[in-house]
This record gives sequence, structure tokens and C-alpha cells, in this order.
Amino acid sequence: MLATMPKSGTTWLKALTFSIVNRNNHSVDESPLLFSNPHYLVPFLEIYLYKDGNIPDIDSMPCPRILATHLPYQFLPSSILDCSNCRIIYLCRNPLDVFTSVLQFLLQNGRISSPSMSIDVPFEQFCQGIHPYGPFWDHCLGYWDASLKNPQKVLFLKYEDLKKDINSSVKKIADFLGYPFSAEEEEAGLVEEIAMLCSFENLKNLDCNKEGEIKAAFRAKHSSFFRKAEVGDWVNVLTPSMANRLEKLFQEKLGESGLTL
Ligand code: A3P
Repeated sequence: MLATMPKSGTTWLKALTFSIVNRNNHSVDESPLLFSNPHYLVPFLEIYLYKDGNIPDIDSMPCPRILATHLPYQFLPSSILDCSNCRIIYLCRNPLDVFTSVLQFLLQNGRISSPSMSIDVPFEQFCQGIHPYGPFWDHCLGYWDASLKNPQKVLFLKYEDLKKDINSSVKKIADFLGYPFSAEEEEAGLVEEIAMLCSFENLKNLDCNKEGEIKAAFRAKHSSFFRKAEVGDWVNVLTPSMANRLEKLFQEKLGESGLTL
């Protein structure tokens, strides 16, 4: 189960996990990722599978099953929490960049209007915890605490760490899921190949991600899932005082948890 707050790098995590787990089924040259947006290969529970009262037959889906969710940890059903074979990977991202990415995503998909739109209202709501899937800090802390209590079950990753060292992150995900790379695979450069396949530059430029749209909570252009992928892009959207307020708020909310964002 891949869990994220929207705009934390879900698309990237889906591509990486799909490629790692299915590497014996498809070579990198023939990866389904070359023809399909990652969101079709790893569906969301609440946005897709269980949408509109639908009850999917998860058991009939081929193994290994990779599913995704934006639900907070506290909302996960016991079938996930109590199932010893189900592992959870949580990907967290700096909240200032997430806020920025959400705004741009809504703008690109016509959900909010005009570049001159004031960000004061959405910013205030974000600071008050009024946000899809709940307050950002509660979302991260739920998975953070679970990862400390049960590290075999919950792996907590940060977007910024993946950006810094993707090859180590690919290996970490593979080890956690029980699909470690063999010495031969590492020597053959498979870790690097998967990292390249799933890189922003590669995925963004594929036809399947440049064209088309996905019908999820609303219609979203495939291209809108690949914008800039930069760490610190918030400087182009938030004023220094807004950034300062968010940083202080997060320091306070994360408190003594040991989590820094
Ligand atoms: P930006 O809007 O800052 O560019 P999500 O997948 O959770 O919707 O998150 C989208 C964010 O992840 C966007 O950030 C997007 O550009 C970035 N992203 C998408 N694919 C990526 C990849 N392969 N590598 C790194 N970042 C990626």
C-alpha cells in the first residue's frame, strides 16, 4: 500500500514500486510505464477502486498487488493494518512545496482561476489544517509513529531524500518489500535503469503522460502530474512571512516526534 498526501510524489512512488516489484515480468525496455500513466498501473483505493459504492474484488487481482491511498493512517481499515503480509510505504514531502504543488495542480486543471488569484484564503486554510485528507501534520505523524512502532510494516520516506539519492532509495524500497536486488542485478545496473525509467525527465516526456487526462476526483491532465519536480519551488509562490509562519507551525505541530520536514 502506497500512502501519501496529494502532491507529495505519489506518481513517482507508484512508478518506482511498480517497476521494482514487476522487474521479473517486464524488462525496463518493455515496461508498461512506457505506455501508461502510473496512476492506471497502481490504482487508488478511495479515488478509483471503491468509488461510488463500488466493491472491487481485490482477491481476484493478480499478485503482487500494489494499491495506493491518500487516507490518513488512522483511517486505514483493519484488513490493511492487521494483515501481516501487507506493507505500507509512506512518502512525505516538505509542506511548503506540497502547498505550492497543490495550487499549481488546481490551476493547471482549471479548478481555480487566474494566475492573479490570491493565495491568502487557501494558505489560511492550510495553516488551519483544512485540507483534503485532513491536517498535513496529522497525516505525516500518523504514518511516522506507525513506522517507529512497526518498521517491518511501515516504511517512511521523504521526497527530498529520493531526489538526493534515488539509487539508495530504490534499493531501500526493494529490501523493504522483500524484493531485494541480487548482486548480479546490481552489477548489471538494474537499480540505475529503474531509477532512470521512473525519473521525472523520462516520464514527463512520454506520450502517455504528455497527452490525455484521468478521471479521478475530477478530470486531471496526465501532464499536470509532472510539473517541475523541484525541491524548494515554494519560493516562487509563498512570501517569506508565509514560509516563516508555516515553518514555525510545523515545528510546533511535529513537536518532540523526531520528524523534521
Ligand atoms: P511539483 O508540482 O512540485 O512539480 P503527486 O504525484 O503526489 O501528485 O505529486 C506531484 C509532484 O511530484 C509534482 O511536483 C510533480 O512534478 C512531482 N513528480 C512527478 N513525477 C515525478 C518523478 N518521476 N520524479 C520526481 N518528482 C516527480
